[in-house]
Amino acid sequence: MREDIAAVLERDPAARSKLEIVLLYSGLHSLWWYRIHHWLWRHGWFFPARAASQFARWLTGIEIHPGAIIGRRFFIDHGMGVVIGETAEVGDDVTMYQGVTLGGTTLDPGKRHPTIGNGVVIGGGAKILGNITIGDNCRIGAGSVVLRDVPADSTVVGVPGHIIFRNGRRVVITDPKQINDPLSEALAAVATEVKNLREQVCRLEGREHIPGEGGDSLDLAIEMDYQI
Ligand SMILES: CC(C)(COP(=O)(O)OP(=O)(O)OC[C@H]1O[C@@H](n2cnc3c(N)ncnc32)[C@H](O)[C@@H]1OP(=O)(O)O)[C@@H](O)C(=O)NCCC(=O)NCCS
Repeated sequence: MREDIAAVLERDPAARSKLEIVLLYSGLHSLWWYRIHHWLWRHGWFFPARAASQFARWLTGIEIHPGAIIGRRFFIDHGMGVVIGETAEVGDDVTMYQGVTLGGTTLDPGKRHPTIGNGVVIGGGAKILGNITIGDNCRIGAGSVVLRDVPADSTVVGVPGHIIFRNGRRVVITDPKQINDPLSEALAAVATEVKNLREQVCRLEGREHIPGEGGDSLDLAIEMDYQI
């Protein structure tokens, strides 16, 4: 409990005293409730575990399933609206803000929630979905929706989430598929199709196709560097 309090003091500049932290930090209260209901869960007391988890949710606005595995010095700041699913795993020294979901995308039982590495920071409102792994020391931007594995020491932002920093260096996305944005892929596909049709029309008209004919916008859509 001492190290949980120290973690809050270290990571929240607004925290003034240990007494304030013990009495007023709902993230800490939910973590301590978790330690009780996770113990009950591990010893086969499933209903009391769920009941204690729901009671903690009612008190704190934070829902941690008793089956989740949470590491040491976990800090949930503000907390309201956090949901951590049954098969989620959270490493040591993880920081999380309000509205974060570690959720599943399938109804199949088994491992269906994310695994979060050590030292990860998850911004407010971020949704991390499915049985994916977020590597150690990653930062997940506020409001991101992360659907794929993220290698260690990366920063991810956006919907769907994509990497903007890796090992402290800026990542420039040159392939729309890396962003995995269905809209940019559709745009590039339509542009390619129009280009092919234009070439075909030129052939049918018996004249040579001049690259860039009809404006540069198509070539731009196909070849654009999809920078963030
Ligand atoms: C993701 C994050 C960690 C990046 O911080 P950083 O390394 O300082 O990066 P920067 O602020 O320089 O941003 C880098 C780029 O990512 C963009 N970006 C940053 N955060 C973003 C986010 N959450 N969503 C979308 N884009 C984001 C910036 O606009 C910038 O783009 P640009 O270079 O094209 O202008 C930070 O922005 C973040 O979201 N932290 C969470 C904080 C939080 O939830 N606080 C809650 C307190 S209650």
